[in-house]
Formats: sequence, C-alpha cells, structure tokens
Amino acid sequence: MKVIIRQSEETDLMQILQIHRAAFGRDAESNLVKGLLSSSKKIRELSLVACRDDEPEVPLGHILLSSVRLTDSTSERVLALAPLAVLPAVQRAGIGSALIEASSDRANELGYSAIVVLGDGNYYGRFGFEVSCDFGIFPAFEVEKENFRLKTLASFDKTLKGIVIYPEIFNSV
Ligand SMILES: CC(C)(COP(=O)(O)OP(=O)(O)OC[C@H]1O[C@@H](n2cnc3c(N)ncnc32)[C@H](O)[C@@H]1OP(=O)(O)O)[C@@H](O)C(=O)NCCC(=O)NCCS
Repeated sequence: MKVIIRQSEETDLMQILQIHRAAFGRDAESNLVKGLLSSSKKIRELSLVACRDDEPEVPLGHILLSSVRLTDSTSERVLALAPLAVLPAVQRAGIGSALIEASSDRANELGYSAIVVLGDGNYYGRFGFEVSCDFGIFPAFEVEKENFRLKTLASFDKTLKGIVIYPEIFNSV
C-alpha cells in the first residue's frame, strides 16, 4: 500500500472523527478533534490525513498539531501533537510514523520551534521526541516524565521554558 499525506479538507471531517472513534474506542478524542477543527485558532496546514494513493479522498489516519502557550515565554512557536489515530484495520503499516514525520516537517517549514506530546515515550522517542522536562518545559498535569516529550525544530532556542498551557478545549472534552 502506497500512502500519501495531505492537508485535511472540510469534507474529510466525518471520516476523521470516525478514525479517532475507532482507534481510541471512545468519543473523547473525536470530540476534541471536532472542537479543535472548528476553532478559529486551527492551523490548517497542521491537520493532516493519510490516504492510499489510489484512494486519496478516503482518510485512513489523521494527526493534528495545535498551538500551545508556555508560562515563561510570550512565544507562540510551540505546538502540541494531539491526537494521532490510524484506523485499526490498517495499523502497523507505517501510517502513524508517516503522519508524525510529515507533520514535524511542515511545522518546521512554518517556523515553529518545538512540538510537545503526551504519549508513550518509547513510541515517540523513535521520532526524535526527547524528555520535555530536560529542556525546562513541563506539563501542567501529573505524568511520568518519560511520557511527556518534546521535539525541537530548527528554530528552537533555550529561552523557551515554562509550563505548557493547552487550549481550553483540551480541558472540556
Ligand atoms: C499509535 C498509532 C497512531 C500508531 O499508528 P500505526 O500506523 O500503527 O504506526 P506505525 O505502523 O507507523 O508504527 C507501528 C509501530 O509502533 C508501535 N506502536 C504502535 N502503537 C503504539 C503505542 N501505543 N505504544 C507504543 N508503541 C506503539 C508498534 O510497536 C509498531 O512497531 P512494530 O510494528 O515495529 O512492532 C495507532 O496504533 C493508533 O491509532 N492507536 C490508537 C490511538 C493512539 O493510541 N494514538 C496515540 C496517542 S495520541
């Protein structure tokens, strides 16, 4: 299966929500995605879908990156990766990896400095996500430090510090 990655379109919404529902087995993540994609702060270039190249209109996986704030910085150059999901029937075929790589590349091209993620440290470690606390960038909630990761991009600099504040919608779903 050859996979292409493209920016999501409004017409993909129902399938994107279905991917999150099926992958996570609950509604929380699809509700989050629905809220984030309808928000005025949505970054269009950083909502990506993966499709088979012979069926480019049918998303099989989706990734979303959103802007977050750091308490000790006025910068808006940090992103959070959340959520990422691949339809169960096509997992373990490299789609999740391709979405992470493509979204990191686009974030870099857009001039963002770093991406944080809450998730399995072993999985995200493969893609260059390091332990975030080691950079002085902390989660606002209790979590194993191994599982809150940060990927630095080309414009990262050490002045970026503080506690990560996610958009309010993350607290309400
Ligand atoms: C996590 C997820 C996006 C990975 O997508 P994928 O297309 O299957 O990933 P890839 O094929 O690129 O990589 C698969 C590798 O990742 C590993 N992997 C997959 N999910 C993992 C997880 N939750 N924790 C640790 N490792 C994981 C597998 O071991 C596999 O490696 P292997 O085949 O060498 O054993 C997908 O499994 C999924 O949608 N899961 C449910 C939702 C979820 O947990 N999302 C991530 C948190 S936001």
